[in-house]
Amino acid sequence: MQSFKTIAIAGGTGTLGYYVSEAFLSDGSYKVKILRKKPETVNEKANLLVSKGAEIVYVDYNQKDDLVNALKGTDVLVSILSGFDTYNIQSKMLTVAKEVDVKRFIPTEFGGEYKLGDHICTDTKAKFREDLKKSGLEYTFIYNGAFQEFLGWGGFDVKKKEATFFVDENKIISTTSLSDIAKYTVESLKVPEARNGAIRVAGAALTLKEYLQKFEEATGSKWKVIEDKEVRYRYLNKIDPVPSDADDFKVMALNHTSFEKLDNDKFSFTPRPVTETINELISQAQ
Ligand SMILES: NC(=O)c1ccc[n+]([C@@H]2O[C@H](COP(=O)([O-])OP(=O)(O)OC[C@H]3O[C@@H](n4cnc5c(N)ncnc54)[C@H](OP(=O)(O)O)[C@@H]3O)[C@@H](O)[C@H]2O)c1
Repeated sequence: MQSFKTIAIAGGTGTLGYYVSEAFLSDGSYKVKILRKKPETVNEKANLLVSKGAEIVYVDYNQKDDLVNALKGTDVLVSILSGFDTYNIQSKMLTVAKEVDVKRFIPTEFGGEYKLGDHICTDTKAKFREDLKKSGLEYTFIYNGAFQEFLGWGGFDVKKKEATFFVDENKIISTTSLSDIAKYTVESLKVPEARNGAIRVAGAALTLKEYLQKFEEATGSKWKVIEDKEVRYRYLNKIDPVPSDADDFKVMALNHTSFEKLDNDKFSFTPRPVTETINELISQAQ
């Protein structure tokens, strides 16, 4: 196995990025550089990560010199970027990563395993995956299903005690907590199958009906269920009125979170029970 020492994390103070940066730092065996876009801005999470040993490097992703300076000496580049320009930024990082001998690139995936043509928002990920495979750099794609902390986005409204099923109630939805996704990302560096491969993991793989049951048990009450068949039907049949971009993306994403086979057993830890995240969501809503 390769030995990696220096990790550069683009977007390492973001929603998921913060957890991944923290997990690399608490492992204790890595030097962690976090790439943030210029101009410098105040960011509490960045300050916290610096206090734990991270170095923050501000870059203009369009300036090659900035990227060379940020990436030289890096063994593993983890991109946890989000936003409309991600394909462009990752492409620029890939060019420089090759030039400065970065050993492995983990691109921003961290969701379902979307194929080209699934959705305009995810095509940029699928396209970059192909570029990366051809680049000659080692790569790992990490698929973790939906963020467990985003179950609200998936239709579970804790405040209203209401569940909206945007896909069939029997559809299995894989979800993983942010802290477990971070642990899988760190440990993937030691998993042989992750070298030039994909890792498919899940903290829970339950049907919508089963998640609902857990929410009901945790709140001690029966929830109202809304079957959003209309959006679902319009999405599946591609008919007018076309669902909003957000709804269209939601139905597509929820339809692509489950995996035929999981790689959880290649890792040394057991992900935390989904009920822990559900209890946190309930206390945050109070
Ligand atoms: N599976 C799921 O349920 C799920 C849910 C949400 C997201 N995701 C995926 O997880 C990954 C990370 O998402 P996230 O929600 O954690 O990201 P995020 O917090 O929205 O953003 C991550 C970082 O990207 C950088 N960034 C944002 N816009 C940028 C731009 N225009 N140019 C340059 N940098 C920019 C920012 O870093 P700086 O300001 O520090 O430079 C930001 O902190 C993405 O691939 C996303 O699609 C998955």
